[in-house]
Amino acid sequence: MADLHLVVDRAAGGLAAQIAREVREAVRSGRLAPGVRLPATRDLARDLGLSRGVVVEAYEQLVAEGVLESRTGAGTRVAAGAGRQTAEQNPEDREGWPHYGHRPTSPDLGTFPRQAWLAAVRHVLATLPNDALDYGDPGGVPTLRRELAAYLGRVRAADAPPDHVVIVTGVAQGLSLAVQALARDLGRRAVLAVEDPTSPRQLPLLRRAGADIVPVPVDREGIVVDALPHDADAVLVTPAHQYPTGVVLSPARRAALIDWAGRTGALVLEDDYDAELRFDRDPVGCLQGLAPDRVVLAGSVSKALAPGLRLGWVAAPPRVAHAVRLARGELDLGSPVIDQYALAHLIAVGAYDRHLRRMRREYRRRRDALVRALAEHLPWVTVHGISAGLHLYAEPDADPAGLVAAARAAGLSAEVVTSAHGSPGLVIGFARLPAHRVTEAVRALAARAPG
Ligand SMILES: Cc1ncc(COP(=O)(O)O)c(C=O)c1O
Repeated sequence: MADLHLVVDRAAGGLAAQIAREVREAVRSGRLAPGVRLPATRDLARDLGLSRGVVVEAYEQLVAEGVLESRTGAGTRVAAGAGRQTAEQNPEDREGWPHYGHRPTSPDLGTFPRQAWLAAVRHVLATLPNDALDYGDPGGVPTLRRELAAYLGRVRAADAPPDHVVIVTGVAQGLSLAVQALARDLGRRAVLAVEDPTSPRQLPLLRRAGADIVPVPVDREGIVVDALPHDADAVLVTPAHQYPTGVVLSPARRAALIDWAGRTGALVLEDDYDAELRFDRDPVGCLQGLAPDRVVLAGSVSKALAPGLRLGWVAAPPRVAHAVRLARGELDLGSPVIDQYALAHLIAVGAYDRHLRRMRREYRRRRDALVRALAEHLPWVTVHGISAGLHLYAEPDADPAGLVAAARAAGLSAEVVTSAHGSPGLVIGFARLPAHRVTEAVRALAARAPG
């Protein structure tokens, strides 16, 4: 077991972040080699004179980043793919700041419907009364809330009147403010069950909002409801297309989850991830429609249009909707109104649906081509998940970090996703890869792939 020489400044605060930084640095410099076992959280906490929770939080962060691996019974070790090359693989590590560009989960931004958006903005500017340009309702302009309530009812079988819909800057902010409201209600940090594996990017924002994260395993049917901790205040799920594994929450698990929430009084946070990008059939309706008093549905235009618009919504029980709206009022006075009216117009005239129909066809072509090319050139990489979304998920036999490096060198957008309960997986984005370039890119990947 490694003896860690960590320098922690107690007066400076942010102790978990300090520990995470020190360990990350030790791994990056080679002082801690891949495979080395770290002290148990209890022991390290005692050595440093800190509470165990602080060390647990630091370790969880590093597991989420792929720097450490945690296995039941085997303790926590430096991840196989971590080490000196990590900085090359993850520009965000090198910068000490998240990497914002070229995510495997981003849409093809070259297909942004510029003409339709321009027409919508032109329409808004030609017709909007001057007063509408004043500070608006921090919960969103009524026109958009009405359009979204109808749209979500029609397309996602949601059950939310416009009053229960609040406009936010995206799923990230919607979840953040819902967790914040929950923690405030509880008068303490909220115990939040989160799917494992999950998107590591959202963990810092959930923690910042006041959540203590408990990872809960995901299998072929989605989150394992029987494994939910009895003391969870809320659970965060991606039922339409689990990120990253790509499975759909099964009907039996949906019923079990709603039943569990009813029994425990917990809140279900439903990230409607990729819901509009199901290629082989209509998507399953959202959970929120089954239990509008227990479920907060969060969605955005980040996949359908562009993440840079920062435009999303929550459809929530009245108490949560009120708290989120209040928070926007206290925080930043709401989202830009012209964009909100433009989106409302896009939905009202059917341009939003038309764009999505076109993109579904195009993304399906790209996904099919990638699946075929992988089967031909990298048959040992088994693809999981349904025909949907903007990325593929695989659990390769080989080291995923090596594959990610090879994929990036071949011009593919890829990243490793770690799991507290299972093996690390590989996410490959296909949204920006035209079907005619797929074979060439996968051949280049196969030529560089380790092993
Ligand atoms: C699983 C998941 N949910 C939500 C988001 C954030 O979405 P938004 O742009 O709507 O804030 C991301 C971003 O990458 C994500 O990976």
